[in-house]
Amino acid sequence: MAELQQAPPSDGQAQADTLIRNIGQLVTIAQSPLPGATGSLQVIDHAALVLHNGQITWIGQDSDALLHELRQRADVQQIDAQGAVITPGFVDSHTHLVFAGDRAEEFHLRRAGVSYGTLLAEGRGILTTMKATRAASDATLLALAQERLERMRHYGTTTVEIKTGYGLNTTSEENCLRLINQLHVVEKQKPSPQERIRIVPTFLGAHSVPPEYRERRTAYVDLLLNEMLPTFVGLARFCDVFCEREAFTLDESRRILTRAKELGYALKLHADQLSPSGGARLAADLGATSADHLDHASDDDLRAMCEAGVVATLLPGCSYTLRSPYPSARRFIDAGLHVALATDFNPGTSYCENMQMMLELAMSAMGMALEEALTAATINGARALALHEQIGSIEIGKRAELAFWSIKDYHEIGYHFGVNLIHSIFVG
Ligand code: NIG
Ligand code: FE
Repeated sequence: MAELQQAPPSDGQAQADTLIRNIGQLVTIAQSPLPGATGSLQVIDHAALVLHNGQITWIGQDSDALLHELRQRADVQQIDAQGAVITPGFVDSHTHLVFAGDRAEEFHLRRAGVSYGTLLAEGRGILTTMKATRAASDATLLALAQERLERMRHYGTTTVEIKTGYGLNTTSEENCLRLINQLHVVEKQKPSPQERIRIVPTFLGAHSVPPEYRERRTAYVDLLLNEMLPTFVGLARFCDVFCEREAFTLDESRRILTRAKELGYALKLHADQLSPSGGARLAADLGATSADHLDHASDDDLRAMCEAGVVATLLPGCSYTLRSPYPSARRFIDAGLHVALATDFNPGTSYCENMQMMLELAMSAMGMALEEALTAATINGARALALHEQIGSIEIGKRAELAFWSIKDYHEIGYHFGVNLIHSIFVG
């Protein structure tokens, strides 16, 4: 029998309002050793969970005598997991979810050999989506975003980061940020824990230089520094920059992120995706929370990131869509980095809401073991959002953000591929 982690729930009314019983396998991904758990992911067979106010207050064996009283209590919601596997919900720490239009035509042009960089340099790519997004009404943008969130939830995501970056002027960027915040409020107010999703807003005004500034890009950088960044304080937790030959130079990226840091934003970077841009090193210099993509990051870059505690976020959906070589996750893990996996959901390089697909790609093409992929998609995703003290693993004191799987053993994940193995989510 598992020992209790803290005072039993029957000790006080306040500690329990929900009991989840009959869990076939509880894959906790706990960061501290749990009694009764085995393996590197800390798995408890025949488990139960007690929650209070959405927080985990007890973890143990379903047969524990201390649950007897709780099972009788009418004021405790009883949930029967019916032998299911439960893991932390996926934390999708990198998405561009708010946009209108699609780029199917460009997708097929790329299939015919035109590069992503060429399209962007020709004023297509991100700018195609910018036009459609600027032209769309709030109602349209909101409805599209909600459809996509619904799909993410369906595939097991419980927390999602959402970037702006298709407005590219003060009005439209602010509008997108307000919509992201509105989505957050709508989700939070939903009565059912099966329907909610947690949202983290990121400002990515430095996604591309918009056409009206094409011949005077410094003026756009100044607009970001002097108008957008100060105005949007409080609307976004992170500031991100696309540091790339076709987007923002290393020097521009440094100016933007330094200003953002002064204003209290936490930092992220699209770094070394299409070419070695210096982005990973900049992330380390500025103490960014994460650097993402990293296809062209050098060993020295990885060392610098590791020393600075920057999370490496890998985005296999991009390699899949762009048909570029997948970065080796082994290299990042062996360098001692915390590696996160995310969808990078966007209309250009990864039009996919499904985190299970990212695990499958990471396991088949990036050299990740199942345990590493699950860790990357949960607790390390939370690290990439600086939320690892609150979510990302199943531990006492953390928020209950759970994925209920319609499988009996977690080893089916990645093995049974191309189908949805999630039954439902729970966001307490
Ligand atoms: O993460 N690389 C820059 N931004 C996105 C692509 C956005 C787009 O193509 O619309 C990315 O891949
Ligand atoms: Fe991205």
